[in-house]
Amino acid sequence: MPDTLTIIDNRTGKQYELSIANDTIKAMDLRQIKVNENDFGLMTYDPAFMNTASCKSMITFIDGEKGILRYRGYPIEHLAEKSNYLETAYLILYGELPNKPQYEEWVHNITYHTLIHENIKKLMDGFHYDAHPMGMLISTVAALSTFYNDAKEIHNPESRKKQTYRLIGKMPTIAAFAFRHSVGRPYVYPDNALSYTANLMSMLWKMTETQFQAHPALVKALDVLFILHADHEQNCSANAMRSIGSSHVDPYAAIAGAAAALYGPLHGGANEAVLRMLDEIGTKDNVPSFIKGVKSGSGRLMGFGHRVYKNYDPRAKVIKQLADEVFEVTGRNPKLDIALELERIALEDEYFVKRKLYPNVDFYSGLIYQAMGFPVEMFPVLFSIPRTAGWIAQWEEMLLDSDQKIARPRQVYLGSGMRDYVVMSKRK
Ligand code: SDX
Repeated sequence: MPDTLTIIDNRTGKQYELSIANDTIKAMDLRQIKVNENDFGLMTYDPAFMNTASCKSMITFIDGEKGILRYRGYPIEHLAEKSNYLETAYLILYGELPNKPQYEEWVHNITYHTLIHENIKKLMDGFHYDAHPMGMLISTVAALSTFYNDAKEIHNPESRKKQTYRLIGKMPTIAAFAFRHSVGRPYVYPDNALSYTANLMSMLWKMTETQFQAHPALVKALDVLFILHADHEQNCSANAMRSIGSSHVDPYAAIAGAAAALYGPLHGGANEAVLRMLDEIGTKDNVPSFIKGVKSGSGRLMGFGHRVYKNYDPRAKVIKQLADEVFEVTGRNPKLDIALELERIALEDEYFVKRKLYPNVDFYSGLIYQAMGFPVEMFPVLFSIPRTAGWIAQWEEMLLDSDQKIARPRQVYLGSGMRDYVVMSKRK
């Protein structure tokens, strides 16, 4: 049988053959379907892109029904167990696991781009004392575009590589400076003798000691969390990155836009919203009444549900196991009991089962971050740091894809027809 779709337009009786490739038809092939010759032709109407592929990609594969997540073909469970964040970032960006010289050069280049211009400190000092760190991160990343004019050379691979080093190297520094500003502590400069995540912890927590000694189990846990958050195909913030990047703006401005999308409570802001929800519930005994409220439409079970996963988010499984290792060091987060009870009840309740709502990556991650001492406001910031690699990879793939051009969707116009201007004296 041919890979085609036969469409009969019952308005005209005309028949059309559309080719099928990769289980899709080309939307532009619908434009030939008209009633009158000067019609615009058919489009699809797909708010929130529920069933629209905006691009071809070779970076991340998700099977929502089976709960599968792979970066460049490698299962997330293998990478979480055997890799580290910088190696996984290299894989996501360049398509292959690095060999030893490649890895060492990559780590060196990231490590030597962790410092930020001293004027950035002055910019961050301008924020209110209780500014949300995510708002500070978004603004500061956008400001980086004013320091690196070479970033506008987006078609120069060497320039893209240099901005990649700078972005992956500086996001932890900006994140840590935002945190230190919000708690009124002096900024701690990067310590290039430390690993990527140990250095972040040093910039966050170091006080007067000469070198910060992070607990190795917590460094490892944060690194695994970063692996799990590194990319997730065409999520809301990746779509923002591609759309903004398609105008050929520099990658700093595009990343600021992607981070802004991630900030929303339906996306990367969900991990912060989960902890606020657990605080609102207060005790295990209040879970049934809270669930009842959700089912009656009073709000959402934050950390549950996913556009793609209609099964358990594989990242949530890994995070749940990681929680036990972290709590051995930090002490158990008492909110875990409320979270486990929420999960237990929800997974048995028809309302959630029918809607295929399972815990997603954000349901347990906040419990670990909180146990590690992070305030809830830092949670979306801790999501942005690792996702920077994914955003850059999606951006670069879009730039190099000959199918792509500036993103500019169509619309279905249902507004007023043509009407003449009415002078003030004649208005109702
Ligand atoms: C991330 O896309 C990605 O890959 C994102 C991400 C990534 O790595 O980049 O995985 C990270 O953003 C994870 C998701 C974090 N967000 C949350 O935990 C917020 C709570 N979840 C939801 O708001 C919701 O599930 C979404 C936004 C995640 C998905 O929304 P969809 O696919 O648009 O689903 P929907 O809103 O159309 O809901 C379908 C039904 C609705 O009920 P009915 O209209 O059929 O009666 O399910 C209900 C919704 O009301 N529903 C929920 C619910 N999520 C959906 N009801 C209660 N609690 C929820 N959490």
